[in-house]
Amino acid sequence: MLPTIGEVTTPAVRFPRLSPRTYRVVTVAALVALAVIVVTGAAVRLTGSGLGCTDWPQCEQGQFSPELDNVHGMIEFLNRLFTGVVSVAVMLAVAGSIMRVPRRRDLLWLSLGLVAGVLAQIIWGAFTVWTKLRPEMVMGHYLISAVLLANAAVLVQRAWTGGRPTAVAVRPRVLNLSRAMVALMVAVLVTGTVVTNTGPHAGDENAVRFSFDISSVARIHALTVLAMAAVAVATLYLAYKSPAGPRLRRRGALLVAAIVMQAVIGYVQYFTGVPVLLVGFHILGSILVLLAVMAVHLGMVTRPPLEQPGAPGVGGRHTPSSPDDHEATGQPNSEDRPDTSDRPDLRGHARHQRQARSGGAVSGPSSAPAEAELVTPDHDVRPDTPWVVIVWNDPINLMSYVTFVLQKLFGYARPKAEKLMMEVHNNGRAVVSSGPRERAEMDMFRLHEHGLWATMQQD
Ligand code: HEM
Repeated sequence: MLPTIGEVTTPAVRFPRLSPRTYRVVTVAALVALAVIVVTGAAVRLTGSGLGCTDWPQCEQGQFSPELDNVHGMIEFLNRLFTGVVSVAVMLAVAGSIMRVPRRRDLLWLSLGLVAGVLAQIIWGAFTVWTKLRPEMVMGHYLISAVLLANAAVLVQRAWTGGRPTAVAVRPRVLNLSRAMVALMVAVLVTGTVVTNTGPHAGDENAVRFSFDISSVARIHALTVLAMAAVAVATLYLAYKSPAGPRLRRRGALLVAAIVMQAVIGYVQYFTGVPVLLVGFHILGSILVLLAVMAVHLGMVTRPPLEQPGAPGVGGRHTPSSPDDHEATGQPNSEDRPDTSDRPDLRGHARHQRQARSGGAVSGPSSAPAEAELVTPDHDVRPDTPWVVIVWNDPINLMSYVTFVLQKLFGYARPKAEKLMMEVHNNGRAVVSSGPRERAEMDMFRLHEHGLWATMQQD
């Protein structure tokens, strides 16, 4: 059986099989474990138990666990044990990506990233203890966890949305704003950890602190928060008007709520002498903000429909196909359908996909476009090859309207626009523009805005 795009050939060795649905649960479990350990790690610091165990990996020299009456030691030790839970969770994510049917390379790499990150954290944690909680080390410990959480968020999102090609569903300027929001979130997290490592909660009373003026660094932290909040609101405002809008509404609401809650906790804790419990909630809130920012940013892409009847998602409106869409429709994701990968009758389909990938076109006005034709998958992008935008036939739009849109959007003379329109009408599709990826995305987006069904692929 030939592989589907984005999947890896199943080797001769037979692993137990995991459905995409089950694998999603595994990835969510890894993400939750990674989030929880940030909070338990914070509890270690906030209870002053950072050096409760003075050695690593043993708690004390020659002693794996602390004495029962050593409260700080027990807190630190329990956190170390929880590292074991996290390690198992991320290893299960890797194992699951191998057992998942169909297998996907992107999920394997992303889950391997989690294992690498947890290993890095274990080593970093050891150096943090050996350097007696140096502020740079404590800071780095949180920030590596933030990277791990972002990695886990991408993994969950990808496991959730299936392995189909993606298309950016917002204008380039909105995508850039969203990138700026992510960059500002990084600034917020970095400045936050600087405040923490200047403030009183070091994790041990003898630990060295940054010598910054606490109110100055707190002010810088609050300013980066304000900048991030402003960019987030602008991003959401503009993105709501795009095809990704409906999907982003819930994520956007979550993001705004998380930022407001964080800001309230942040100011209250600042003016009340950073009480331990509030700082704990602030750290939990920082994770929620991070995940919400990632959810909004990752929600900027959409997945064109895979299996279309002769009449496509008319008017360029997105036919439900991604799980986000299925949240609304309750229909299953295409990857959740029974595994038919061994069935011989799908061979023709695979051949058809191969043909499409090598440039072979599907002809006939009623032919459903093959998966491979819609958009070139992310991992198969050849940077130098231009992209083409294809308009598909649909039973709704009038021929005169299609001609009008082509004239209006691309400035084509009427004969050229009519020729392309007739090609769409007679052949089911026509290439209407070509160029670099950004430009093709923009053209596709504008065609969608005008109610035409358009897709893009590398030439
Ligand atoms: C979206 C909003 C915010 C996020 C994501 C955020 C994030 C963070 C992070 C990641 C830390 C470091 C945690 C650690 O190293 O364990 C931190 C610490 C801190 N933040 Fe924020 N913060 C936000 C808003 C604010 C605001 C508006 C203030 C008001 C001044 C504030 C005040 C503080 C203070 C005082 C600390 C140090 C707490 C300590 O002693 O450990 N934060 N913040």
